[in-house]
Amino acid sequence: MAGKGKVTVVGAGFYGSTTAQRLAEYDIFAEVVLTDIIEGRPEGLALDMNQSRPIEGFETKVTGQATGQAGEGYQAIAGSGIVIITAGLPRKPGMSRMDLIETNAKIVRNVVENVTKYAPDAVLIVVSNPLDEMTALAAKVSGFPAHRVMGQAGMLDTARFSFFVAERLGVPVGSVRTLTLGSHGDTMVPVPSACTVDGKPLASLLSAADIDQLVTRTRNGGGEIVALLKTGSAYYAPSAAAARMARAVAEDSGAVMPVCAWVDGQYGISGVYLGVEAEIGAGGVRRVVERELTGSELADLRTAAEAVRAKQADVASL
Ligand code: LAC
Repeated sequence: MAGKGKVTVVGAGFYGSTTAQRLAEYDIFAEVVLTDIIEGRPEGLALDMNQSRPIEGFETKVTGQATGQAGEGYQAIAGSGIVIITAGLPRKPGMSRMDLIETNAKIVRNVVENVTKYAPDAVLIVVSNPLDEMTALAAKVSGFPAHRVMGQAGMLDTARFSFFVAERLGVPVGSVRTLTLGSHGDTMVPVPSACTVDGKPLASLLSAADIDQLVTRTRNGGGEIVALLKTGSAYYAPSAAAARMARAVAEDSGAVMPVCAWVDGQYGISGVYLGVEAEIGAGGVRRVVERELTGSELADLRTAAEAVRAKQADVASL
């Protein structure tokens, strides 16, 4: 069955190309466009993905298109309902996501200027790092309404946390529910009060010290993989998260997911892009979903908001 609509992934590195592959394999879109500034790379990857269609049995057409900073090639993204921005450099071992801010701000700014011109009605999903700052920058540069710009981080951090809990307890990942809010960085806020295994509170199954250890590993989850890979950063779990967000938009599903969204009064926090739970639909964020937090979780979320707010102000001038 032919799918509907067009989704674009900007950046054909590992993160971008695996995202494009997942989106194509869902078989719900008519077309997935993959772009990159390296001539031949998106075209080659698209050809390869199209050749997997008879084997995997999906009809979504994949188009690869090289693009230039002055907008060359961007006609290919025209009509996209969703644009996922993965452009930018990944970390090297020992770097924090924040070390990428200057370089990636220039790249993301240029991409968003072009995307805005050629796909003015799209929902933007930003994954470039530092995530919260790049999402805020994309919103500012695009001039899109805040609900049409969001960032991917919470789904990934939450998935990591869930995996660590499942592995520690030797239970299926499907029985574990966890949650992280805040930033995709040092002020990430894992929310143990929202974590359950088969419906039982995590705190009844693991000691506070054990939970703390898993929380720390979650907070450093991306860095752990960067250190192992030595070049590049994680992409299987990140692309799974970004693709699920795009799918929720495409299907107007109303799924509630932890994402980086514009916060306007929830948790007593206003005027900042921050990791929160949100209901996702065709227009992007339908609403931010506020839940009951413990006093210390709420305090941590507010601290994260202030840290991110300061950096998001800096990024506007980069
Ligand atoms: C990570 C990068 C993608 O957390 O931010 O792996």
